[in-house]
Amino acid sequence: VTEPDLAGRHVVVTAGGTREPLDPVRFLGNRSSGKQGYALARTAAARGARVTLIEAGTGLPDPAGVDIVRIGTAVQLREAVLKAAPDADVVVMAAAVADFRPRTYASGKIKKKDGQEPEPIVLVRNPDILAEISADRPRPGQVVVGFAAETDDVLANGRAKLARKGCDLLVVNEVGERKTFGSEENEAVVLGADGSETPVPYGPKEALAETVWDLVASRLG
Ligand code: PMT
Repeated sequence: VTEPDLAGRHVVVTAGGTREPLDPVRFLGNRSSGKQGYALARTAAARGARVTLIEAGTGLPDPAGVDIVRIGTAVQLREAVLKAAPDADVVVMAAAVADFRPRTYASGKIKKKDGQEPEPIVLVRNPDILAEISADRPRPGQVVVGFAAETDDVLANGRAKLARKGCDLLVVNEVGERKTFGSEENEAVVLGADGSETPVPYGPKEALAETVWDLVASRLG
C-alpha cells in the first residue's frame, strides 16, 4: 500500500525533450522519451500529490489524475515552469532541455541549392530554467530537484552541476545502452546539497522515482 505522504502537496514535473525548430519541418532535439518524468508524475499522484506534468514531445499516454501542459521549446518550457512554480511545493526537472537553439527560424523549408554548401546553423544559449528556479524559489521552502545525464566522470560532474545549479537534489544518471534515455530502466545516484549520496540500483524508472519522492518528502518536513 502506497503511503499518501504527498497528500496536500502540489508537485511540478517536467518530462521529455525540448525541440528547437529550424524551419517548419525540422528541429534540433534529443533522445529523451519522457518515461522517467512520467514515472515521477505517476508515483507522485499515487502518493497523494496534485501533479502538474509539463511535457515536451513525448507522445506518451496521459497518466490518470495528472494535469498536463504540453510545450515544445526550452523557452516555452521556462514559461510553463515559471507559471506553475509559485503554487508548487516541489519542482522536478526531469526534462532534457536544449542548452542552445538555432539563432534564426526559417519561415519556409530550408532548400538545397545546387552547387552550394549548406548554411551553417548558428546557435544561441537557452535560459537555464533549473538554475533560475533554484535561485528565485518562487515559493518559500520549495524543494527543487534536477537531473543530470552524464557520460563520464559521472559523480564529479554531478557534484559540480549540483553546486552550479543550486538545487536541493540532483539525480545523476549515466548514459548507457540499457538505461537512461529511452529505456524502461535507470540507475542513478541522488546527490543532496547537504552532501548526501543515495545510490539507486539498476531497475524500473518507477523505483528511482519512488526514491526521489522519499528524499523530497523528508525535506518537506
Ligand atoms: O526521458 P527518458 O527517456 O526516460 O530519459 C530520462 C532522462 C535521461 C532524460 C532523465 O533521467 C534526465 O537525466 N534528464 C536530464 C537530462 C539532461 O540532459 O540534463 P542536463 O545535464 O543537460 O541538465 C541538468 C538539469 O538542468 C536538468 O534537470 C535539466 O532539466 C535542467 N536544464 C538544463 C538546461 C537548461 N537550459 N535548463 C534546464 O533547466
